[in-house]
Parts: sequence; structure tokens; C-alpha cells
Amino acid sequence: MGAQQNAEWYDEMCRKTANSRSEPPWCSPWHPIWEHVVKLVAVSGPSRIVELGCGPGAMAEMLHKKLPKVRYLGSDFSVVNIQIAQRRGLPKHYHFSVRDLVLEPVTINQPKCTVVVTVEFLEHIIQDLQVLDRLPIDTEVIFSLPDHDSEGHVRWFATAEEVDTRYRPLFSDLKVDTLEIGLRKYFIGHGHRSAPVTTVPPTTVPPTTLPQESAA
Ligand SMILES: C[S@@+](CC[C@H](N)C(=O)[O-])C[C@H]1O[C@@H](n2cnc3c(N)ncnc32)[C@H](O)[C@@H]1O
Repeated sequence: MGAQQNAEWYDEMCRKTANSRSEPPWCSPWHPIWEHVVKLVAVSGPSRIVELGCGPGAMAEMLHKKLPKVRYLGSDFSVVNIQIAQRRGLPKHYHFSVRDLVLEPVTINQPKCTVVVTVEFLEHIIQDLQVLDRLPIDTEVIFSLPDHDSEGHVRWFATAEEVDTRYRPLFSDLKVDTLEIGLRKYFIGHGHRSAPVTTVPPTTVPPTTLPQESAA
């Protein structure tokens, strides 16, 4: 099993693969995951999108193509990834910020109009349940998880049922799809945050409020 890594580790990874990370999204092997998530977001028709662990902004580019008017906030703790995202030339209402999402949650002021998306991020942090638990009740969440290990993975899942078992307590209506890309499977979870759950321990770090212009 891999281990939780710090921002410098992701910066270094990103520097080594900067060329492929700057490419248009449809060149990436992850394109089918992003496409699937973007379709689900478009059906929901939110006025705001918050992306957790947005990396170099590839899915943001796809979201912008499909939903050009929606306000988007993408966060990631890797400065190098965020710099690549900012160079994609997206308009100002597609905003990127450097943020350690374990320590500094994004404030969501309008949960009923907001969709939170997070692709291949939750398996990189030990505190996945806490990060999801901090999202306001009723927020719609779409997330992807892998079926394989990697240097930065602290967990992975063999089946959609395993994903369902871990995350169902946080959602009122969780549905988990399975996407096959070559020999790998990715699980796409989709649901709304439900009432507080006592089994998830509260985070020890108090949430901070974003400046008004970047708050979603
Ligand atoms: C596998 S990449 C996925 C990137 C992006 N979601 C995508 O689909 O291209 C995982 C991302 O999680 C970010 N990450 C890991 N731990 C984080 C943390 N504590 N706070 C914010 N971002 C984090 C990494 O910097 C990296 O960009």
C-alpha cells in the first residue's frame, strides 16, 4: 500500500510529468472518468462547482466547455499543479486556489446550488471521511476512486460494494457506478450529503472562511 504524501511530493511528480499534465484533457487516460463526471454534473445543472484535489485543471477545462457560465472553484495543495491549471486560460469565474484540503476546508454557502466533484483524490488522504463529513447537508457530491494501489494511495477498492460500504453513512442516496478503462476499474460515487453521522470523528482543525469572491 502507498502512503499519504505531502505537497512537495506532488509538486515534484508534476514537474516530472508537466508536459502530459498540460495537454488537453482528451489526451489523458483519465479522460473517460472526467467525461462521466462532467455528464453527471451537467444533468444536475448547478450554479456552482467546487472541485477538491483539482490537480492541473484538466476536468475544469472540460467542465468549462460544457458549463461555461457556472462558477467553479478548484483547490489543490500542489502549487505546481495549480500553476498548470491557471495557464489553461479559463475565465476568472473558473478560479483555482492552493489549499491543503485536510487542514483548510472550502466553505460552501449555497449547498443546494453547488455540486462538489473530486476525482482520484479521496484515496490519497487518510482523512477522506472527515473531508466529506464537513460538506454541508444536501450538497451533491460526485467522486471517483480506483481499484488499484499506487505510491500515493492510502486505500483502494476491489468492488463497488466496498465503496458503498465505506461512504454510504455520509449520503442519503449514494449510487456507485463502475467504469472500466483497459484493465483498470474506477468507481464513481454520486449522492447528497445526509444528516450528521456520529461514527465519523470531528476534525480537530476548525474550518476557515474563504474570502467572499472565491467562496462557493
Ligand atoms: C491523482 S491526483 C488527481 C488530480 C485531479 N483530480 C485529476 O483528476 O487530474 C491527486 C491530487 O490530490 C492532490 N492532493 C493530495 N492531498 C491533498 C491535500 N491534502 N489537499 C489538497 N490536495 C491534495 C494532489 O496534489 C493531486 O493533485
